[in-house]
Amino acid sequence: MMDIRTVAFILCSLLEISRTHGAALKCGGALAEPKGEFFSPNYPDPYPVSINCTWTIQSTGNRIVELTFPFMQLEYVNWDADCRFDSISVYDGPASEHRLLGKLCGNETRPINSTRNELTVVFTSDSTFPKKGFHANYSFVDVPFLSELVTPSPELKDVKCGGEWTVSEGGFTSPNYPHHYPNKAHCTWTIKSTGNRIVELTFPTVELESDWMKDCRFDSIKVFDGPASEQRLIGLLCGTQTGNFTSTRNELTVVFSSDSSTSHPGFKAQYRFVDVPSLSEYPTPVPTNDTEETSKCGSVMVEPKGEFFSPNYPEPYPNHAKCTWSIQSAGDHLIELDFPFMLVEYRQWDGDCRFDAVSVYDGPLADDKLLNRLCGNHTAISVKSTKNEMTVVFTSDSTFSYKGFHAHYSFADKP
Ligand SMILES: *[C@@H]1O[C@H](CO)[C@@H](O)[C@H](O)[C@H]1NC(C)=O
Ligand SMILES: *[C@@H]1O[C@H](CO)[C@@H](O)[C@H](O)[C@H]1NC(C)=O
Ligand SMILES: *[C@@H]1O[C@H](CO)[C@@H](O)[C@H](O)[C@H]1NC(C)=O
Ligand SMILES: *[C@@H]1O[C@H](CO)[C@@H](O)[C@H](O)[C@H]1NC(C)=O
Ligand SMILES: *[C@@H]1O[C@H](CO)[C@@H](O)[C@H](O)[C@H]1NC(C)=O
Ligand SMILES: *[C@@H]1O[C@H](CO)[C@@H](O)[C@H](O)[C@H]1NC(C)=O
Ligand SMILES: *[C@@H]1O[C@H](CO)[C@@H](O)[C@H](O)[C@H]1NC(C)=O
Repeated sequence: MMDIRTVAFILCSLLEISRTHGAALKCGGALAEPKGEFFSPNYPDPYPVSINCTWTIQSTGNRIVELTFPFMQLEYVNWDADCRFDSISVYDGPASEHRLLGKLCGNETRPINSTRNELTVVFTSDSTFPKKGFHANYSFVDVPFLSELVTPSPELKDVKCGGEWTVSEGGFTSPNYPHHYPNKAHCTWTIKSTGNRIVELTFPTVELESDWMKDCRFDSIKVFDGPASEQRLIGLLCGTQTGNFTSTRNELTVVFSSDSSTSHPGFKAQYRFVDVPSLSEYPTPVPTNDTEETSKCGSVMVEPKGEFFSPNYPEPYPNHAKCTWSIQSAGDHLIELDFPFMLVEYRQWDGDCRFDAVSVYDGPLADDKLLNRLCGNHTAISVKSTKNEMTVVFTSDSTFSYKGFHAHYSFADKP
């Protein structure tokens, strides 16, 4: 007959063994396949006591993690809404320091989605009453925008965020979107294509602090053609300004920064790679500040010959330029136009000169008879009117500017 102390000793030892066993048990893991499943240890037999297993699921690109539980049976006490005994905690991020998306126990098999690439699942059991455990299923789900969650720093330290994107299309948002972004955030997203592909970026929504000086000195989005270090700024947004931007090469960088006060919902950005025949033929653009102001220019010319230039020539022309030159012969002459120099924004793949263009019309503008629409460096071109009047219109868009053009005309006799 064992005495009560021996029984107690044996019971304690048994408990100790299972406790040690549980603590030493290897469980959890890193999961990166697009879909899969995992189970509590020993499933469907009862899980060990005192265990702590962590699964980290990692997707890539514009994909979140969707987690479901085909089966769950954990210890549950009906007065314990906080799942203090055995539980599954799900975090929105690569570690348990990130936001808790849900803490589950009993048979609470509700599905949970991450808002970003990583999801962490922590399963813990206490020292008593183990149950069957759980069967978890996960899969990656494509989403148009991936939101990054950051915790604002109470000491107002700088918040770092951003990431690198190499998949052919994707989207991202300011941190915590659509909830307000943190103060003192500094995010850098680098989008990198390969081969003959450039990056096209749009901002469907922008809600940042606006700035009455319009120079976005408080909170801003900057878009660079290439790495941020090269400072080839092609876009500056704040307030509710949106915009579309195109790189001239394989890399485009978006930098978001907020100051130490006033925060707003933030922005959504979407990009895709666009095939171009060649990257190298595109000349280095001159970054310009988008003033939003239209530069009016042009004149009426009635002399038998003359010349005119893009605004600022040979310095880069302004953005948002719209110039109209009207060449008129009082007699019965035709007008012959050529360009000793031309370098106007163009894309190899854009035969329509959609960005900046020199349009030549036969007669007055009202006739709308386009003779030619030029961009790039067409110096060898010569355009001839069929009437005694010709109109030349130069327009530039909100980004990239070049030297422009030098035009020369003369009257010619009718054949
Ligand atoms: C997910 O759960 C179901 C049961 O509901 C199962 O049939 C399926 O094979 C599971 N696994 C994966 C990887 O989806
Ligand atoms: C489980 O393990 C993680 C990582 O080691 C740790 O942060 C966490 O506090 C542990 N939880 C419990 C309940 O022991
Ligand atoms: C979950 O547990 C509750 C309470 O224990 C029970 O009433 C319910 O039927 C269970 N549901 C499932 C799907 O097992
Ligand atoms: C998770 O995402 C999928 C796909 O977008 C959706 O069908 C499902 O309702 C989401 N689940 C939750 C809990 O939000
Ligand atoms: C950006 O492009 C989209 C479609 O490609 C267009 O609907 C939108 O108006 C453009 N936004 C700006 C500011 O140009
Ligand atoms: C753009 O504006 C900034 C600030 O006003 C100025 O420092 C910079 O020289 C300007 N850049 C160009 C290309 O005009
Ligand atoms: C104009 O383009 C041609 C071929 O596309 C190139 O060889 C030439 O150097 C260019 N000229 C200038 C001034 O950029």
